[in-house]
Amino acid sequence: MTGQMTDLTTLESELSARIAAASDLAALDAVRIDALGKQGSVSALLKGMGALSPDERRVQGPLINGLRDRVTTAIAERKAALETAELDARLQSERVDLTLPPPPRRAGSVHPTMQVMDEMVAIFAEMGFDVKEGPDIEDDFHNFTALNFPPRHPAREMHDTFFFKPDPVTGERKLLRTHTSPVQVRTMQATNSRPPAPWIAAGQSPPIRIVVPGRTYRCDSDQTHTPMFHQMEGLVIDKGIHMGHLKWTLETFISRFFEGQVGARFRPHHFPFTEPSAEMDIQCDRSGGEVKVGQGSDWLEILGCGMVHPNVLRNCGIDPNEYQGFAFGMGIDRLGMLKYGMPDLRDMFASDTRWLAHYGFSPFAAPTAASGLS
Ligand code: PHE
Repeated sequence: MTGQMTDLTTLESELSARIAAASDLAALDAVRIDALGKQGSVSALLKGMGALSPDERRVQGPLINGLRDRVTTAIAERKAALETAELDARLQSERVDLTLPPPPRRAGSVHPTMQVMDEMVAIFAEMGFDVKEGPDIEDDFHNFTALNFPPRHPAREMHDTFFFKPDPVTGERKLLRTHTSPVQVRTMQATNSRPPAPWIAAGQSPPIRIVVPGRTYRCDSDQTHTPMFHQMEGLVIDKGIHMGHLKWTLETFISRFFEGQVGARFRPHHFPFTEPSAEMDIQCDRSGGEVKVGQGSDWLEILGCGMVHPNVLRNCGIDPNEYQGFAFGMGIDRLGMLKYGMPDLRDMFASDTRWLAHYGFSPFAAPTAASGLS
C-alpha cells in the first residue's frame, strides 16, 4: 500500500517535471502520450484498478483518478502557455512599424531595344518616313512567296523558320515571321485597304516611304543570335528611285545613329526580293577586344538592302516600269549592342533586373531629333 503510494508520488513528480520542461507543443504531446495514451503510465494504473479488491479500490481509486485529473490539467495549462508564447513570438517577429518610410523601390526603365527603336524612328521620321507595323504570325505568302522566294526554295528552310502545325482543314502552315519584309508586301498591296487589325499596315499606293520596327523569329541561339529579335525594315517606292538614294539614306542614317562620321561599304549579296542586293558593312576597330564603331580598319556587317525586285512589285500590284524602290532590313538589338557596348545578345531578353537597371534608360530620355538621340 505505502509502496503503491510512493510510486504514484514519484510518477506524478516525474510527469510534472517533464510537462514543465516541454519547450514546444510536440514535446508536450509526447508527455501526454506517455502518461495518458493507450499504453501510457497513468492509463495502465487506471486499467489495473479492475484487478483490485473492493477495499483497495476504495483507497486507490481516488488517488489514481486524482493523479489523472492533475496530469490532464497540467498538460492543458502548459499547452495554453506554449500557444500564447508562440503567438507572442510571431507577433513580435511580424511587427510592422507603420511610421517608417516605404523601402526604396527599383525604378522601372526603358529597355535598350525600345530606346534604340525610338532613336532609329526619330532619325527616319525626320527624313520623312512613316512607321508601319505588321503581325508576328504570318503566312507563307507574305513571308516568302510574295517576296519572290521560289516554291520549295531552300531559302525557306535557311531562315530557320518556326512553323505552326498545319491547319486541319486547309493544310496551311502559319509561321512566325523570319523578317520584317512581309510588311513591305502588306503596305504595297493597295487592295489591302482594310487591314485585319488596326495596327497592321494598310495598303497604299506609291509614293511609299516607311520604316517597320518589329519582332522577328528564327530558331537560333548564341552570343549574337536569339530566337526572338528585332528588325527595322525600310521601304521607299517612287518614280526614278535608284541605288544612289539607297546609299545616301543608309550612310546618313548610320552616321546620325552613331553620332559621328562612320565609314560604310556595300558588298554584293543575294536576297530573292531585291535585285541588285547588297550588305552594308560599317567601319570598326576590333583590336581592343571590344568592337568600336567609326574607328579602325575592320568591317562589320549590319544590314541587308537592295533595289526592290520587279517580281515583288508585280506581286503587290505595282508596275515596275513605272515605279522603282529600295528596301533594307537591319537588326535593332545588334545596333544597340554596338552603340551601348553590350557583349551578349542573350542578356537582352533574360529579364535580369540588375542588367535592366544598368543598361535601361530613363523614361524621360525619349530620343527626338531636336533634343538629341542619346
Ligand atoms: N529581310 C532581310 C533579312 O532579314 C533583310 C533585307 C531587307 C534585305 C530588305 C534586303 C532588303 O535578312
